[in-house]
Amino acid sequence: MTKSTFYITTPIYYPSDKLHIGNTYCTVSADTMARYKRLRGYDVYFLTGTDEHGQKIQRIAAENGATPKEYVDKIVEGILKLWTLMQVSYDGFIRTTDPAHERVVQQIFEQLYRQGDIYKGAYEGWYCTPCESFWTDSQLHDGKCPDCKRAVEKTSEEAYFLRMSKYQDWLLDYIKSHPDFIVPASRANEMIRNFIEPGLEDLCVSRTTFTWGVPVTFDPGHVVYVWIDALSNYITALGYGSDDDSLYRKYWPADIHLVGKDIIRFHTIIWPIMLHALGLPLPHQVIGHGWWTADGEKMSKSKGNVVDPVTLVNRYGLDAIRYFLLREMPFAADGDFTHRSLINRINSDLANDLGNLVHRTSAMTRKYFEGILPAAGPRDALDEEIRAEADALTGKYTESMDRMYFSQALGDIWGFVGRLNRYIDQTSPWTLNKNAADRERLGTVLYTLTEGLRVVAVLLTPFLIHAPGIIFDQFSIGAAYQTWESALSFGVLPSGGRVKQAPALFPRLDVEEELAAFAPQQVPADEPPKLEITFEDFQKLDLRLATVVAAENVPRSDKLLKLTLRVGGQTRTVVSGIRSAYSAEDMVGKQVAIVYNLKPVKLRGVLSEGMILCGEGADGVLRLITAEPGLTDGAEIG
Ligand code: ME8
Ligand code: MG
Repeated sequence: MTKSTFYITTPIYYPSDKLHIGNTYCTVSADTMARYKRLRGYDVYFLTGTDEHGQKIQRIAAENGATPKEYVDKIVEGILKLWTLMQVSYDGFIRTTDPAHERVVQQIFEQLYRQGDIYKGAYEGWYCTPCESFWTDSQLHDGKCPDCKRAVEKTSEEAYFLRMSKYQDWLLDYIKSHPDFIVPASRANEMIRNFIEPGLEDLCVSRTTFTWGVPVTFDPGHVVYVWIDALSNYITALGYGSDDDSLYRKYWPADIHLVGKDIIRFHTIIWPIMLHALGLPLPHQVIGHGWWTADGEKMSKSKGNVVDPVTLVNRYGLDAIRYFLLREMPFAADGDFTHRSLINRINSDLANDLGNLVHRTSAMTRKYFEGILPAAGPRDALDEEIRAEADALTGKYTESMDRMYFSQALGDIWGFVGRLNRYIDQTSPWTLNKNAADRERLGTVLYTLTEGLRVVAVLLTPFLIHAPGIIFDQFSIGAAYQTWESALSFGVLPSGGRVKQAPALFPRLDVEEELAAFAPQQVPADEPPKLEITFEDFQKLDLRLATVVAAENVPRSDKLLKLTLRVGGQTRTVVSGIRSAYSAEDMVGKQVAIVYNLKPVKLRGVLSEGMILCGEGADGVLRLITAEPGLTDGAEIG
């Protein structure tokens, strides 16, 4: 009998030197699903990869003095290292710069053009000349270029378009008649209401303003723009359109495309239309997951709050991080990362609940039975209850896992772990050990605990990489009793196995110590107050109001302004380092406070006679000290 196949994908990631726990979560989730399906006997293909073309990559590479290919090669190396660290068990890794992918993207583009699904038109947008970039209305910041903040001009560029509008009715119908296509269902409604019903706009699928992309074969100067290149990866990776398309024939259509909420739209609108236009079957399901925030805020490089999976894995171990990510993120909703919740999960769930269960079971077997698993005797009601709960657990687990409700599945497993810990308290093995007549009963209790742990370890294999193997080894549970089928039959483990001593599965952490180790770098404390001065000292200062009558940049300096000040009847030149906050034009006409009797100095060859007073805002930006109306230049301050 041939095995059923299961094909799952993650998005292909943009090459970035800092993949964070958000991207890591997505890949680890898909990995968990792939491992679960393998456990269940499926022939699994798990695909991930990188999305390497586009203007942004071209620009960043140039800034780094590298060709785009050199640049992405280096970044992709880092991404592969991260997936190795996370033990992501992918079967395929697609790069959109793979020549085989590029060739098929070209064929797809040609076919869609030949069929009339792609046509040539003009792309209207805003052009920033210095950046050589096109922006759409919504990308502009206050009507200016979002990158350099300079003015943009309305222009149009020749481009190819995918005729989305033609497939609108078909798509609406498809989504409505396939309620499992988009998960969660609320997303399907959102797609229909916000995008499909208002009318699909044709999609720009080529560009001429940059070259780092797949060339359009029949129109040199055009490169394929974003989605036709990116989405095709799910079939090109399987050899679709190549000499050997055996993987494609075996695994397509995909069972699950797992994607973040921001790209559900592209996977449920553009992708189905592309496939339908090509005459190919659609994936069974697109699942949209939520986003991770850090301490309640969106993670971003500029905020410096990007949570780095490598640091966490190096400190706490892979299992702890995988467990946390999959336990803490509710299905299809957002999750928040805080260091405290991570440490609490490690301490309470892993060290306490699971760690203690393992430790107590093995320690008692060693103490009471010289480390040999005893045979089970007759069962009482309590033992039957544990068996029934194990059965119920595998049932609930299956339902949750098939839907990727990982947090729910882990919650149920931990419910059972808690039940086993309670069983120890209820049966009180240390009391049974005192009475020779209770010897058989004591054996039954320890056997039941070991079986319970075995089921737990099997169910954890998709989630945790190390712990299940450690448990199997510690209790001498052979390969035959690590399988899914064996987990469904409580009581199959033979007695007589050796139970070994082992270090704590998950050591307890000191919460405060961990929080301190990861606390943001302390901002230097406010400077201590300066030495006191006398009133006479203060009176030596001559502070005055002045009006700026002219201002210009000091040549060869990007910080200094040369200001011409009127102070009463006098004119003065002062050089000031406030250009980071005020331009020359900003300054003209402003009233400022100055130190009038500061000893003159030459700055960049300009004689400066005095100093402008300003203060630094909480944002680190300098601001001038100015006067209320009624004070005029020349006025003494004091
Ligand atoms: O979108 N929490 O790539 P990408 C959870 N190349 N998930 C997050 C996240 C967060 N804080 N931030 C990002 C792309 N993600 C395209 C995909 S597929 C044909 C092309 C998720 O590197 C995000 O939702 O910007 C997306 O699913 C994935 O990371 C890759 O994002
Ligand atoms: Mg993105």
